[in-house]
Amino acid sequence: MSDYHETYARWKADPEAFWAAAAAEIDWDTPWDKVFDPEGGVYGHWFAGATCNTCHNAIDRHVAGGRADQTALIYDSPITGRKRRFSFAELKAEIVALAAVLRERGVEKGDRVVIYMPMVPEAVVSMLACARIGAVHSVVFGGFAAKELAARLDDARPKLVVSASCGIEPGRVVAYKPLLDKAIEMAGSKPQHCIVLQRDEQTCDLVAGRDSDYRAAVEAAKAAGTTVDCVPVAATDPLYVLYTSGTTGRPKGVVRDNGGHMVMLKWTMWNAYGIRPGEVFWAASDVGWVVGHSYIVYAPLLHGCTTVLFEGKPVGTPDAGVFWRVIAEHGVAALFTAPTAFRAIKKEDPQGRLIGDYDLSRFRTLFLAGERADPETVRWAEQRLGVPVVDHWWQTETGAPISHNPVGLGLLPVKHGSPGVPMPGYDIRILDDAGHPVEPGALGNVVISLPLPPGCLPTLWHADERFREAYLAEFPGHYKTADAGFLDEDGYLFIMARTDDIINVAGHRLSTGGMEEVVAEHPDVAECAVVGIADPMKGQVPCGFVVLNAGVARDMAEIEREIVQMVRERIGPVAAFKLVVPVDRLPKTRSGKILRATMQKIADKEAWTMPATIDDPAILDEITATLNQRGIGI
Ligand code: COA
Ligand code: AMP
Repeated sequence: MSDYHETYARWKADPEAFWAAAAAEIDWDTPWDKVFDPEGGVYGHWFAGATCNTCHNAIDRHVAGGRADQTALIYDSPITGRKRRFSFAELKAEIVALAAVLRERGVEKGDRVVIYMPMVPEAVVSMLACARIGAVHSVVFGGFAAKELAARLDDARPKLVVSASCGIEPGRVVAYKPLLDKAIEMAGSKPQHCIVLQRDEQTCDLVAGRDSDYRAAVEAAKAAGTTVDCVPVAATDPLYVLYTSGTTGRPKGVVRDNGGHMVMLKWTMWNAYGIRPGEVFWAASDVGWVVGHSYIVYAPLLHGCTTVLFEGKPVGTPDAGVFWRVIAEHGVAALFTAPTAFRAIKKEDPQGRLIGDYDLSRFRTLFLAGERADPETVRWAEQRLGVPVVDHWWQTETGAPISHNPVGLGLLPVKHGSPGVPMPGYDIRILDDAGHPVEPGALGNVVISLPLPPGCLPTLWHADERFREAYLAEFPGHYKTADAGFLDEDGYLFIMARTDDIINVAGHRLSTGGMEEVVAEHPDVAECAVVGIADPMKGQVPCGFVVLNAGVARDMAEIEREIVQMVRERIGPVAAFKLVVPVDRLPKTRSGKILRATMQKIADKEAWTMPATIDDPAILDEITATLNQRGIGI
């Protein structure tokens, strides 16, 4: 029997008592005045008046409480052939030393630090060192290009950047430092200092007066024996800002506070993930994404678990058995990744033969999120691994799962295609476009009744109004998830699509609007529209329809290459923008709105109806013919 229904009902009956009980698991420097203060912030604040420190709860309390010698972090990097383990005590020493380095360079509570790093232990250390001194970190995913980094520098206005000489992708070394230098050159807001980790694979030049060598600075701080205590911060103070794609090229700075975040993450580790302190948890994501923030770094450490930092890919580093090797070697109890990783493995090893080469006896559960888990992939994983496969739904904004099949509370019957049931904290409603509730089974806008639970974004960085407009204005009293879906008769949620221009490419959230802004800058392009079309491995990939300026007589293949290169240079390789389709005209409504959704349906060979407001129906035939010529939508 699952405790889910009883637990959800208990939360609903008294949310404040529920979260106050969960908060007892956290060390507070001073207690809260109010569990929830409806007057604070944009829609209220959790644990108002309390002070705490996230690094203390993730590290120091375990060192003091008997876990000093337990492994906190396993760095496993098949791409470089390196492995390293850090006990909680060793990790603390690294964090304290880097915190001293940050302090020496004038970083204090409330200052921002941008972290632009590959999947190395120093990225985790940097995040926790910021948390220790109350500085606000903003991690930027390494697959983003200089312009995206510059946009984040301008919004976060960091005093300091921590970076590395390079990242390593299969078959190539990605020099990070030139991207960082270019971003700083482009940004209006320049950091005063950069601390750069020199990696053996490729070192870089340091700018005199601005850059310091990470290792040298940390070693000097260790030699000096500088101690840096955890700084108490308000529970409502920001721990980090994580930028995510918005509906334009301008990213949204999702703010995470300290107190509510700890309470929610700690609660999920047993109740949602069924993990006990001391066990090994592995989120095969990247610290640049929210999954990495929450489930590589903060949640496992807050819970006293060992976390795995994996620098590699599910295939090709060296083969499709690497996930099983890591699970067996480190005794992983639960793996969390995106379905795309499993599609990649399944493609290379359809029978799952490599699984048999490893001892997976300690492995209990596979968690999938980041994109819709297609039932075929879920079934394949269930059959080959013989463990429950749990699809759960969440967003950068929430920082933890919104709906889940909760393992610790007791699994409910599985429905393939559904990411489970609403978690405590989430009163999920399905509304039509006019804001009226729809019947069970009917598709609509997935919204969450306010207030959002602890750990969700209280606002966007220095942009309360944008937060209200983007999330709260359309359905008063509710948070708009911008996902469309339905709740069935049993209360299971199904997430079907986004209602905005966000697409999901290999579990990465990207804005097609942002890509359009770049494509439109090509001198030969008169007009463009980027849509996400289905891809068997990545879920979706972007497809750019372009109308060229009259009289352009250049080689089209060359123009296509230039456009692809522009997106790669401005947004980054992670956009996976490789498909440009030249068309004579774009289909529009009579009021001039481009019919992107219809073009996507044609490309994906889905049923579509002629929009009543279309200006010229013949254009859709032209689009169909052009796509078909390229083998798309047939
Ligand atoms: N730094 C620099 N470049 C990066 C990068 C990084 N940190 N991460 C990805 N890239 C590059 C890749 O090298 C690739 O470049 P290419 O066009 O030259 O090949 C491009 O960005 C696209 O990367 P990716 O989406 O990772 O595709 P892939 O083809 O390299 O790998 C998968 C496909 C499925 C193996 C991969 O996406 C994966 O492991 N996904 C796991 C899911 C995941 O981590 N999701 C995060 C949320 S849970
Ligand atoms: P991100 O903020 O990058 O985590 O992306 C969040 C978006 O990814 C959600 O709004 C959904 O569109 C999609 N998503 C995440 N997890 C799931 C899931 N389990 N099922 C369906 N869609 C998901």
